[in-house]
Amino acid sequence: MSALILANVEGAVGVQAAIDAVRSGRSALDAVEAALRVVESDPSVRSVGYGGAPNLLGEVECAASIMCGATLRAGAVGALRGYLHAISVARQVMERTPHVMLVGEGAAMFAAEIGEQKRDLLSDEARADYERWIREHLSADHIAEWPHVPLSRVLWPSADPETAKGTACLLIRAKNGNWGGGISTSGWAYRHPGRLGDSPIIGAGLYVDNRYGAVTCTHIGEMTIRAGTARAATAYLKRGASAEEACREALEDLRSLRGGYLGPVVVHVIDRQGNPFVASIGMEDPEPFWFWWEGMEDAECRGAVVL
Ligand code: GLY
Ligand code: GLY
Repeated sequence: MSALILANVEGAVGVQAAIDAVRSGRSALDAVEAALRVVESDPSVRSVGYGGAPNLLGEVECAASIMCGATLRAGAVGALRGYLHAISVARQVMERTPHVMLVGEGAAMFAAEIGEQKRDLLSDEARADYERWIREHLSADHIAEWPHVPLSRVLWPSADPETAKGTACLLIRAKNGNWGGGISTSGWAYRHPGRLGDSPIIGAGLYVDNRYGAVTCTHIGEMTIRAGTARAATAYLKRGASAEEACREALEDLRSLRGGYLGPVVVHVIDRQGNPFVASIGMEDPEPFWFWWEGMEDAECRGAVVL
């Protein structure tokens, strides 16, 4: 089986690291982690790691997950503050603990214990954008009292397709045929502190199973959590659907959601044979993604199908 890599647009800066890792025979999990560490360090990716957008109180809270398709083991962190490489912390949750997910203070305690790199993640640019957003979206009274205002009253302007997004994700099959997947994000910009999207939720934002393929989702995590999208698409593959059929069916599930905040979602599916299908709902333009398979020099950029 040839190795392959799929990355979404935010994951693009990590694709070369993933290609290098796969070419040198490293595992899919190593390649996922290597790629996402590059994304997390890059301040130009404004929704992941350093340079990522903060929550409503101006604090950067990161989330990440990783999953092994051979064993279905997984690790995740959510609302992690002050550590650059959320993906590595997520991987160590998987490798070293009996748990799948750690959040908040507990995740930070674990990150410190394993010697992860501590860092202030709020870049000058992200701070300036945040301050501008507060000025433009809060009333003069709220600004005068800030931050001693009920956050739930000033939260809704952040529910905008432009702010409620931003995830880097990769699905990789290594040379040995094993699949791995990972996601890293600083999440929906200016959201309520402690809000988790689908990125750290195994079965919502990510699911990888050597027997059937791999799935990852981006954009409005509240929707894919409600529909269990990544796990559902994997189950459709298990029942014999092609990547396209599984992706369309999962998006149909999302279309049937009623109430709550609804917006764009992109679902990336690769079947066991390595055929990718990526499609979105709620978007006018095709979301780009990157695809590489063994033998190619560089990854090629493709556009998701808009449904
Ligand atoms: N473009 C990826 C995301 O918004 O989640
Ligand atoms: N899909 C990313 C999020 O909901 O935060």
